[in-house]
Amino acid sequence: MSIVKRTWTVNGTSVAIRAPAGRRLLDLLREDLGLIGSKESCGEGECGACTVIIDDEPVVSCLVPVGQLPDGTDILTIEGIEKKRAGRLLRQAYVECGAVQCGFCIPGMVVGSYALLRKNPRPSAQAIRAGLAGNLCRCTGYAKIIAAVKLAAARLAGRRK
Ligand code: FES
Ligand code: FES
Repeated sequence: MSIVKRTWTVNGTSVAIRAPAGRRLLDLLREDLGLIGSKESCGEGECGACTVIIDDEPVVSCLVPVGQLPDGTDILTIEGIEKKRAGRLLRQAYVECGAVQCGFCIPGMVVGSYALLRKNPRPSAQAIRAGLAGNLCRCTGYAKIIAAVKLAAARLAGRRK
């Protein structure tokens, strides 16, 4: 398999990549870069546990071959999001709302929630459901996750403490 060399921005830092073109982005993030916050559950693009943001769009990293991402690609993982105000507010709101049970889906949920709030800072419950439709949770029944995203959105907008 051909080896590709790339320079990406990962969580705000320039990173030189050298990897087989077909290597999955999820594996590269976890195994080569040590960013283990992105989880593998289905490995087939169905669950959203491995979601990262690539050039401002949420993407399931288990389906992305490294060779598909050109030089200059901007990747944000849960580790980068946690350092941002919106990420911290989301994490706090998820905990306060009891939206975390086994926790396996949560990194992907928070990444998806972050991407949603960037596009729609005041989402309705329906918009949150639609925005997180690609993120599956077997534990929570989603109601507390929706409440958490609403709470974080309100705090981001300064409407709630
Ligand atoms: Fe990537 Fe499930 S592990 S979508
Ligand atoms: Fe267990 Fe979502 S909290 S899968």
